[in-house]
Amino acid sequence: MTVEKMLVEYTNVFNDNVEKFVPDSSCEYGRVIEALKYSLLAGGKRLRPALVLEFCKLFGGEYAPAIPAAIAVEMIHTYSLIHDDLPCMDNDEMRRGKPSCHIAYGEDIALLAGDGLQPLAFAALAKLEIEPSKVISAVKVLADCCGVCGMVGGQVIDLESENKKIPLDTLVLLQKLKTGKLIEAAVVLGCIIGGATESEIELCKEYALNIGLAFQIRDDILDLIGDADVLGKPIGSDKDNEKNTFLSFMSIDEAENEVKKYTDKAKLALSSFGEKADCLINLADYLAYRNN
Ligand code: IPE
Ligand code: IPE
Ligand code: MG
Ligand code: MG
Ligand code: MG
Repeated sequence: MTVEKMLVEYTNVFNDNVEKFVPDSSCEYGRVIEALKYSLLAGGKRLRPALVLEFCKLFGGEYAPAIPAAIAVEMIHTYSLIHDDLPCMDNDEMRRGKPSCHIAYGEDIALLAGDGLQPLAFAALAKLEIEPSKVISAVKVLADCCGVCGMVGGQVIDLESENKKIPLDTLVLLQKLKTGKLIEAAVVLGCIIGGATESEIELCKEYALNIGLAFQIRDDILDLIGDADVLGKPIGSDKDNEKNTFLSFMSIDEAENEVKKYTDKAKLALSSFGEKADCLINLADYLAYRNN
């Protein structure tokens, strides 16, 4: 299967199932549910659900048991985007081709929409129909990856490094945490649900770490030279916020080489899985050259 076909198929799986995991908005507090649905259903590449589902299929032969986990990770990702766009963070007014959540619903409701998505994600994991011990492992992985020692920690370093010179090592750590950790969660959840062994999970984590870094460096490059209409979000945000990115340390060509370096490492990590992993290997290349 081509990468494009895989992403379309898994986007359809996401779209067909997501509403079952979101409460009805016809109630007194419905506005926050409308706001979180606005962001969650706005589109996006659905990379993380695709990773959950494809890694489950790699080890378990089918993706269906992982659907609640695919939705959970995308809920956490969407919350991170809603909060990332707030004026107190990156102050960006477009996301996924639409006005950011706080522009459409106000800062207060956007903040609460992000808050609301987090428990909904864990409630989705509680609906996994797999052995209880695996559900516990899944909860731990998602909590660790999105929490203070994961994505949130990365966002803290990102914000505290604005207008400052930091060492390249700190930048790599920041990117591994803020972006890599949620990608790792997606990969590892798929592995757990599919029944991968510990040593298989280690190889898959190596893939996740490296596509995560390549993904964020590409995101930084696109913030400089991308097309806002194609990206669905503004360009120049990093410069406006005086962020540290790979482009603070090197030229675009050199950053593109870094993307290639990490992409090659990711592909190598899956090489022992044979042709069953071809689509995931091609996905690494697809992400390295993406324009959105
Ligand atoms: C954007 O993620 C935030 C980063 C981690 C760079 P995506 O580029 O995956 O955003 P969507 O999900 O496609 O909107
Ligand atoms: C944010 O990185 C990563 C998140 C945890 C949301 P960016 O701030 O570069 O993401 P974009 O460019 O706004 O999507
Ligand atoms: Mg940010
Ligand atoms: Mg941002
Ligand atoms: Mg960015």
